[in-house]
Amino acid sequence: MLSPLRTSRLGHVPVTQTLRNGAWRVVELITTPVVPADYLDVIAPLRNPTVLRARIEAVREETPNAVTLELRPGRNWQPHQPGQYVRLGVDVDGVRLWRAYSVSSAAGRSDGRFTVTVNAVTDGVVSGYLRRHARRGMIVNLDLPAGDFLLPATPPAKALFVTAGSGITPVMGMLRSSLDSLADVVVVHSARTPEDAVFGADLRALAADGRIRLIERHTGADGRLKPDELSSLVPDLFERETWACGPGTMLDDLTVHWTDAGFDDRLHVERFRPTVLVAGEGGTVTFERTGTVADAPGGTSILEAGEAAGQLMASGCRMGICYKCVLPMREGIVRDLRDGTITAVSEVDGDKVLIQTCINAAAAPCRFDA
Ligand code: FES
Repeated sequence: MLSPLRTSRLGHVPVTQTLRNGAWRVVELITTPVVPADYLDVIAPLRNPTVLRARIEAVREETPNAVTLELRPGRNWQPHQPGQYVRLGVDVDGVRLWRAYSVSSAAGRSDGRFTVTVNAVTDGVVSGYLRRHARRGMIVNLDLPAGDFLLPATPPAKALFVTAGSGITPVMGMLRSSLDSLADVVVVHSARTPEDAVFGADLRALAADGRIRLIERHTGADGRLKPDELSSLVPDLFERETWACGPGTMLDDLTVHWTDAGFDDRLHVERFRPTVLVAGEGGTVTFERTGTVADAPGGTSILEAGEAAGQLMASGCRMGICYKCVLPMREGIVRDLRDGTITAVSEVDGDKVLIQTCINAAAAPCRFDA
């Protein structure tokens, strides 16, 4: 039997490693043109050292619109801190789409898994897909945890969490991880109805146990919570270190309220961030209905790039006058080729902006509803 400490004639390479390398090269020759790593990728997709993936190991319904996915991350994963998010890459109709989801489980689970909770939003391509199709065993691509929506190392004497919709997900991760270290916690959570409240049962159970004070707002009946109402619901509002997550309008209102009171340093906000949009030169343009993906240089109109990729494009004057070429953009950044004007659309805004494709070029990856 060979000792693993013996060295080969090649110098410092152990004999066992030399044999292993040789065997691997033989396997490579046999499997050419597909390399063995490709087979391993199919058999053990979480073991690929260069591509981070996760396997969905369980799917749990939270509300009629929201599911929690139990994910087992692959090699090179780094554990998250409570409040952080991860980006998932999901293949929808042959196109890989990336979206960010807050981690909703406690940090440091002994089973190595973590959870994200996906709320299907109107026209949300990925959230709707995961809501309908996420199954045990499904593989998704994954990015490392990121984000600075975190609790401080020294817990505050009084904490307030203001959330709406799926804005509760990072806060749930914080509560599940750190509630034992927080003495005085108020949670103000808005949802359209009691049944729509993601983690409604968990929050109510914590409130029943006296671990948090829970204020629920049901916007279907009572309308959106205004900051001045918050002041009467939580009289010691500005004495509390506050974390808020939810729609942009809510966060804008809260920011103004805290700033006007001179306590903006006590407010920490997390905006939903499906993708980080940064304007550059060119990018891939995806036409989601047909699945066509065009490589669009910064100096080429989206109309021309789409046509070159085989996408059927409507057009007329091709110079920005007739508006026959407009298409709704779900997400992305475009630059007007005439004057350099930038238009950016984030899916989180829930808007689709009409873009004249004959006079705009991609300034980042763009997705069109076409
Ligand atoms: S084709 Fe006429 S405005 Fe674009």
